[in-house]
Amino acid sequence: MSDAAIIYELHDDIAILAANNPPVNALGLAVRQGLVDGIARAEADGAKAVLIYGMGTTFFAGADIREFGKPPTEPFLPDVCTRIEASPLIVVSALHGTALGGGLEIALGSHYRIGVPSARVGLPEVLIGVMPGAGGTQRLPRLIGVEKSIEVITTGRQIGAAEALELGVLDRIEDGDPREIGLAYARELIDAGASRRAVSEMPAPEAIDFDAAYEAALKKSRGQLSPAVAIRGIQAACELPFAEGMKRERELFMELMATDQRQGLIHAFFSERAVGKLPELKGVAPREVASIGVIGGGTMGAGIATAALLAGLRVTLVEMSDDAAEAARGRVAGNLSGALKRGKISQDSFDHMTGSGLSLATEYDALADVDLVIEAVFEEMSIKKDVFTKLDAICKPGAVLATNTSYLNVDEIAAMTSRPQDVIGLHFFSPAHVMKLLEVVVADKTAPDVVATGFALGKKLGKISVRAGVCDGFIGNRILAVYRTAADHMILDGASPFQIDDALEAFGFAMGPYAVGDLAGLDIGWAVRKRRRAEGMDLRARDVSFADKLCENGHFGQKTGKGYYIYEKGSRTRTPNPEVADHIAAERAEKGITPREFTAEDIVRRYMAAMVNEAAKVVGEGIARRPLDVDMTLLFGYGFPRYHGGPLKWADLQGLPALLDDIRGYAKEDDYFWQPAPLLEQLVAEGRSFDDLNKAG
Ligand code: COA
Repeated sequence: MSDAAIIYELHDDIAILAANNPPVNALGLAVRQGLVDGIARAEADGAKAVLIYGMGTTFFAGADIREFGKPPTEPFLPDVCTRIEASPLIVVSALHGTALGGGLEIALGSHYRIGVPSARVGLPEVLIGVMPGAGGTQRLPRLIGVEKSIEVITTGRQIGAAEALELGVLDRIEDGDPREIGLAYARELIDAGASRRAVSEMPAPEAIDFDAAYEAALKKSRGQLSPAVAIRGIQAACELPFAEGMKRERELFMELMATDQRQGLIHAFFSERAVGKLPELKGVAPREVASIGVIGGGTMGAGIATAALLAGLRVTLVEMSDDAAEAARGRVAGNLSGALKRGKISQDSFDHMTGSGLSLATEYDALADVDLVIEAVFEEMSIKKDVFTKLDAICKPGAVLATNTSYLNVDEIAAMTSRPQDVIGLHFFSPAHVMKLLEVVVADKTAPDVVATGFALGKKLGKISVRAGVCDGFIGNRILAVYRTAADHMILDGASPFQIDDALEAFGFAMGPYAVGDLAGLDIGWAVRKRRRAEGMDLRARDVSFADKLCENGHFGQKTGKGYYIYEKGSRTRTPNPEVADHIAAERAEKGITPREFTAEDIVRRYMAAMVNEAAKVVGEGIARRPLDVDMTLLFGYGFPRYHGGPLKWADLQGLPALLDDIRGYAKEDDYFWQPAPLLEQLVAEGRSFDDLNKAG
């Protein structure tokens, strides 16, 4: 068979253009050229109709994202769509898989569209920082109206075939092979004497208040530009003739293409796929996992059990008493009830997952046959050690023994067993059935197939899994501790928690660090500070105690109605708690600090410098293998704004020399806290970026 990107075939009087560009038939140069050539050839061959479809798993899944950022090469995608639409032949697109972005734009440039029932369509460009650039913002509103187009384009969501039919994006749904249903449809159209039908020739849609829609989109996306700018494209469809609208769309598209946000979002797209692909795991088969054991049925244990049940695993949950076990079942049911209400799971599967799918036990013997155990007991080394000694005695050979510790030394835990090669850390984030991040913590002796099993389990549970080495806090919590401390220092020196939250929310975080503290419970940080002080802090480190005062007064955040903010009963609306300023003022006075002004920019730069510097240490020490592993950790576990790509992508985009200068400047005030990461110094000296390290694999 031909290896051309578009395979041409004349089937009686129907020319077939079959896309052959695995894995997703992305619309790279060869595909675009093949389409233009194919249409011309069909016309020259005297065909009456043209059928476009995709070989393999999907219709075109979009433009080739790997070409972004490089100089565009002709034929450009908008011209390809225009050429298809302008053909005097009847052009039919037959859709299966995911007709996304440029793929849907090709279909909209066609005269008729048929899809299989499982086909999905969408214009997800805004999710990678751009917007439809091949007529999507001009043709879709003509077909489905402005309001609906705004919704579809600004969310980038995938639309199922049935809805697409209802909207008028598809003309027909037919079960079968895309080639066969497409051919039959084209034949029917020819026989019926149907004429070509160009969406561009349909009347322009009715305008709305586009300025208001633009502002609303910008607010909703927390500063991400692409959805709002895409709305300006839709506006052009209403206000300009089609050809002019296409030009305007192209200009807006190119504007977005030039932004850092586009680079950040595309970095996120490729990194979330690369993060689970570790060179060291190539060819290593994971162990079979059909059943898992969970020890501890608190919020974390029940969350892990819920995630496992949702993935179809059999779960045995061990608690201290029958009552505690039943309470854990209640938590699992509570976790699942939302999914049941929203129709995500059926009543039957709910009953199964809270009934026979979930075995409860009070003895470890119940774990004798499970393939993998995760403990989620109290975070204290002596308790963890005791659990692993018991597991070693009971679990079958080859079972994976996992700890969900968030900072304890996994090597030390593994040493309690006669099989440290089977021990691993699987660090979930609460609530575990919701949060996407899983840190797979690899200890000194963990076997490669156990690491592979951790990743395979993560995939099964729908998580983004990141490999982490052993250290206090692994990747995420170790970095968090440092940038939170930087924020506390800024408060001692003159900033307010509210100002810091505002600055970081303007940067794109959903919540600033102090609002997050209130949500998580201030008692958690209090316990950590007490532990660190008890262990003996380095005398050069600045201790911060204003938060302790809140806790000493019983103010733990949202759960007590008061923390940094005051919360009305049953509401998450926050107003600053005036007592906070008093505690801070008292501590400054005690320490002889004269407060100074911080601008929002000062705040973001310091906070980010602390984050990037610690992240560089984490990579430099090999705790994270690649910068992208840190980026994905912060994105999926810590609410880092996706459109900045992650802290290290953000650092690259800012320029590393300026960032290092900042850190050296801050070090003049506090050279203990602000010790530049050796890796950062090295990259600056060599004129390289973090992304260069990602590429090096
Ligand atoms: N351009 C280039 N490469 C693409 C691509 C695109 N538009 N879409 C997917 N790929 C690559 C992926 O990077 C991955 O490569 P890898 O195997 O080297 O990691 C491979 O195709 C398979 O994609 P993956 O996402 O792992 O498969 P999936 O079956 O889970 O999902 C899609 C398929 C098409 C739904 C998903 O890849 C997707 O959403 N792609 C982006 C679509 C898009 O935004 N199009 C508009 C572009 S303007």
